[in-house]
Parts: sequence; structure tokens; C-alpha cells
Amino acid sequence: MNQPKRYTITAALPYTNGPIHIGHLAGVYVPADIYARYQRLIGNDVAFICGSDEHGVPITIKAKKEGVSPQDVVDKYHAIIKTSFEDFGISFDNYSRTSANIHHETASEFFISLYNKGEFIEEVTEQLYDEEANQFLADRFIIGTCPKCGNEESYGDQCEKCGTSHNATDLINPKSAITGNTPTLKQTKHWFLPLDKHEKFLNDWILKGHKKDWKPNVYGQVKSWIDDGLRPRAVTRDLDWGIPVPLPGAEGKVLYVWFDAPIGYISSTKEWAQREGKDWEPYWKDKDTKLLHFIGKDNIVFHCIIFPAMLKAEGSYVLPDNVPANEFLNLEGNKLSTSKNWAVWLPEYLEEFPNQQDLLRYALTANAPETKDNDFTWKDFQARNNNELVAIFGNFINRVVVLTHKYYNGTVPEPSTFTDIDNETLTTLKAYPAVISSSIERYRFREGSQELLNLARLGNKYLADEEPWKVIKEDAARTQTIMFVALQIASALATLSEPFLPFTSTKLKGILCHGEVAEATWNDISTKNILLPSGHQIGKGELLFLKIEDDTIQNQLDKLISSKAANEAANKVAEPQKETITFEDFIKLDMRVGTILEAEKMPKAKKLLVLKVDTGIDVRTIVSGIAESFSPEEVIGKKVTVLVNLAPRALRGVESQGMILMTETPEGKLVFVNPDDNTVTNGLHIS
Ligand code: 2FM
Ligand code: ZN
Repeated sequence: MNQPKRYTITAALPYTNGPIHIGHLAGVYVPADIYARYQRLIGNDVAFICGSDEHGVPITIKAKKEGVSPQDVVDKYHAIIKTSFEDFGISFDNYSRTSANIHHETASEFFISLYNKGEFIEEVTEQLYDEEANQFLADRFIIGTCPKCGNEESYGDQCEKCGTSHNATDLINPKSAITGNTPTLKQTKHWFLPLDKHEKFLNDWILKGHKKDWKPNVYGQVKSWIDDGLRPRAVTRDLDWGIPVPLPGAEGKVLYVWFDAPIGYISSTKEWAQREGKDWEPYWKDKDTKLLHFIGKDNIVFHCIIFPAMLKAEGSYVLPDNVPANEFLNLEGNKLSTSKNWAVWLPEYLEEFPNQQDLLRYALTANAPETKDNDFTWKDFQARNNNELVAIFGNFINRVVVLTHKYYNGTVPEPSTFTDIDNETLTTLKAYPAVISSSIERYRFREGSQELLNLARLGNKYLADEEPWKVIKEDAARTQTIMFVALQIASALATLSEPFLPFTSTKLKGILCHGEVAEATWNDISTKNILLPSGHQIGKGELLFLKIEDDTIQNQLDKLISSKAANEAANKVAEPQKETITFEDFIKLDMRVGTILEAEKMPKAKKLLVLKVDTGIDVRTIVSGIAESFSPEEVIGKKVTVLVNLAPRALRGVESQGMILMTETPEGKLVFVNPDDNTVTNGLHIS
């Protein structure tokens, strides 16, 4: 085998202000894990590194909202996120956190190293300040219009719509996210990384260098930023949560979260090396190390421009070899959103689908947002399971294992003469490691996952064509050969599925008793003629995947809709009470119980119904703005409360002689103020 290569593979450090959802898994952690597992399998030396990003304004905002300290927030979510990663088989060599001492020390030393080299500009500038909250407004504490794309909800440091990274003072019409006030400007001292000074290096390294093999989305974004011209970026903030700026006279100032977070990759590597008795430095400083950052597209500027500029300025580090960023995953046609609770959270998924981690890994990989934003739908999830994992992969393995037990008591049979079909099948099998490697090495994990399925398809086709269940009746020797070939395919599937379906791979290796033979490595599959030798005893079969019924999927869809509605209701702010009226005002209202006799839609008016109402005094016409909430059929015969002494007025040419009283439930649903109904309401509403 060739000399092993050293890989430092990082996955974006997640903010610890909430659990992890499928978008995170699909965009960053599953592809990074497939890559890391694959590199280990082919014998390379891998450090797969991650940790929690525990500083920054999102944490402070969450803490304020929940009335707890930022430390409480990060402790809670660090534990939840770490467990989710373990549950889903994300095989980090180390998962650290940026509140760890080793990280505070590493980030402070990095800052001091750049400071001592004169790599910062120290400058007093005017920054946005909230007089009421009595604090400077950095990053997500400020919201305004993006100067580049016009998004009115851009954050101070980055616009999530167009991805541009900017200075807070660049925002048009900025508003404090704390009080809603328009900020003032106040002088304060900060340290700036002069990105303009690194423009030539970045241009030569990425644009003129070999980086054209980066994904087009990454290369394109970087090119556009460099073409727009780079400017100095402040790497410190006036905040009370973060790593204190390690300089005298910098009290009350912390490092910008995007300065400290990527250094978290280095400190997490150090923590791992200390634990494992290794030297961390080659993983970051040896020029033969391949450094790869797996991220989502909103992190591109930080990993392709700012962090490389920091590493270059420090001078002793390698630069990333590639930054395979994914686009975003949507859910059932809408953007995944934590605040709107439009998400599938990993802890909840596992409650609903226990032990089915590989299914989610597979569904997310087969539909990964590699080149464009993609949509996750529960229907697609069901189809990937039922039509692919169950019907193709699971079915092939099940047939092989069941027949091996039925015909040979679970022993791999001795083959006789191989036919052309057998030889062709075994030759095709040998090509699979290279085919799947090529997909993974080009970061085409969707393609890789489909090639894996193609190998199972090869097995199914072979069995369907050779029909051992028929041949057994007349040719025992031929049947042995067929089953021998099928078992070799099953064995290859056990090994080649490991990066994509690690739990299934382990289960399948258990069924095939891989532990009892010198297990074929990834590369052996291409070179060895025999993966499972004749006479080898395999274990009991069990189903690898289970069919998912329609009602399970419908439950997930219902749950999604209802949790979104519950979230909207919880966040709905009740309308403030109207001005006080006197008793004399009130007794002027003449309200009667009436019955709706007739109802029809007002032509060309979406909101209006024309009603005939028996008020007890008379039968009169009332035009009511309830057509979007009720159909005419629903209201006929209904008892309602009618304000009968309201001055008549014409609506679309029809004179309305009164008003039906309506109100809203706390969830915002329009309901009748009904004489015989106990509905809890939100206050009188006149329609
Ligand atoms: O976007 C995010 O969730 C950031 N916390 C990613 C940080 S990646 C790295 F640089 F640490
Ligand atoms: Zn923008």
C-alpha cells in the first residue's frame, strides 16, 4: 500500500443555541463523516475534528430570551448536540468546545502572535451603540438592510440572504435587535485584520492557484468577494461573552466569534493529541497534511478568506486544500427555521424512528444539497427507504442469507466452474471500490451512495438471472457457485457501505461473521478473488431495514404542521387592549340574539358574505367580513349576536343593517360571539 496520507478534516463548529436538525446533518456532518470514515478505511491517517461554538451573540440572545446565563445555554446544548452526533455515528476523533481552557489559551496565543507580528491595525472608530440598552451593537445585535442585496433583515456582520460579510456600520437603516431603537454612533477602540493587505495572496492562492477544482459555488462566492475588494475587518468586539482580548487596556472587549471559532479546530486537535499521546503540530503545520473544511454555504467567506488570511499572517500553518461547502436543505418546500420550529430535530427523529440512523443518513445523502438547495420531504424519505434500502439492499442481503442457511446451514459453499456471467459479475464487483472512491474523493456523496445501491442492484440482478431457487432442483454444483458469488457481493457491500451506512455495515459484518475471517479491506475488494472463503460459517439473518407505512409518514407531516402552529401561537403577541369606554358608551349598544337564515358570497369580494338574519325584531340584511373563515353553508342556521342599532352602511352596493359580533381565539382563529358557545376568546372583535 502507498504511504498513508495525513488528513485534518474539520466540520463547522455548531452554535450551541439549539439542537441539531436535518439541515445541519445533510449540509455538513454526514458528508464530512462519510469522507473521514472513507479515508480511515483506505488506510490514511485522519484527525476528524469538531466542537461546540459557544461564543457569539446568538448564545447571548438565547440566554436573554430564556432568562438564564450564557454558560447555562452552552452547557445544555453542548450536551444535547454531542449526544446527537454520537447517536448518528458521526465519528469525530474529538468533539471539544470553545469554552474549554485549551481553546481560550490557543485563541489568545494566536491573537497575540498576530499582534506581535504587527498584523493588526489598532484603531478608534465609531461603532453602533444602543443608548437604552447601554451597549455596543455587534453582529446579531443589529439588524438592517444589506447594502448588497437589499435584504431588510441582514445581521451586522453577515447577510444570510446573499451571504455577504460586512461591517455593522455598512447596514442601511440599522435597528437594535435588543430594543428596536435606531442606534447612535460611539467611539471605541478595536483591532482590525487588514484583509486588503492579503488580497494579492488570496487572489494568487485561490483564483490563480489550483483552487479551480473547488466546488463552483465556493469558488464563485470567493471570486465575487475578492473582485469586490477586501477591507479591514474588526476581530474584537465590545461584548461581555467571549474570550477576553489578551491585551492591557482592552477590558470589556472580547475576540470576535468568527476570529475564535475556527481556531477551535486547532484547539480541538490539540485536545485530541494530548489525550492520544500524539503531536498535534503535523496535523496543522506539515505541508503534506491535507486540511479540509466541511461547512454550509453561509460559512464560505470565513473559511476561504478570513481564516486563511489569519493562518497565512501567523505563518506556520498549512492552508485548506479544499472547502467543500454545501448549499441549504429545505423541508417540505420551506426554509428550515429554528425560530418557526420548521425542522426535524435529531433527538425527536430518533424517538420516532429508533435505531434508524442509517435511514436518515441515507435519505439525506441521496438527496444532498451538493450543487443547489434541495428539499427534504417525508414522502421521499419513505420512498428512499421502501424502494431502495428495503427493496434493493435489504432484499438482496436477505435472500443471500436465507438461501445460504436453507441450502448449506449457513456455510459458504465450494464453487465449481465459473461461467462468463459469474466472471463478469465478479469483475464488475471488483470495480466498485474505485468507482465509489472516485465519487467520495470528488465530494460527490450523492453519486457515491447511488453507486453503493448499484452494487446491491448487481447482486439482485445476478440472483434474478441465475435463479438458484430453481437451479437447486437439478444442479447442486451450479447452485453452490451462484451462492458463492452472491456471498462475495454481500461481503463487499458490508465493507463498502461503512462510510454511508455505518450501523448497517456493522450489522451486516456481524451477520456474515466478518470477524472470523481476515476481513477484506476497501482495496482488497478490487484485488482479492475471494472475500468470504468456502467453509466459512455465517450467522443468523435479521432484517437490515423495515418498510415504512403511509400512516407513519402522515404522522410526521401532521406533527410538523401542528408544531409550527403551536410555535406561532406561543409567539403570537395578543393585541393591546383598546381605549377604555364608559358604561354610558356601552349601554348604547343594542345587542340581540339572531339566527342566520340565508347566506351567500358577495360577488367579486373575497372577504364578504351577504346574510339574512332574523333578529327577533325583524329579518334584515347584514354584510359580514367572514367569508375567508366560513362558507355560506356553515353559517346557515347559526345563532349569533347581532348589534342591531349600528347605523346602516353600504358595502359594495348592498346596505348592511347591523353587525355580527366576532372575536379571535388566542390562536388567532375567527369565531362567533355565540350565545350558546363557551369558546375562550381574545376580546370583542367587530366584523
Ligand atoms: O454557522 C455556524 O453555525 C458557526 N457556528 C460555524 C462556525 S465554523 C468554525 F469556524 F468554527
Ligand atoms: Zn445581502
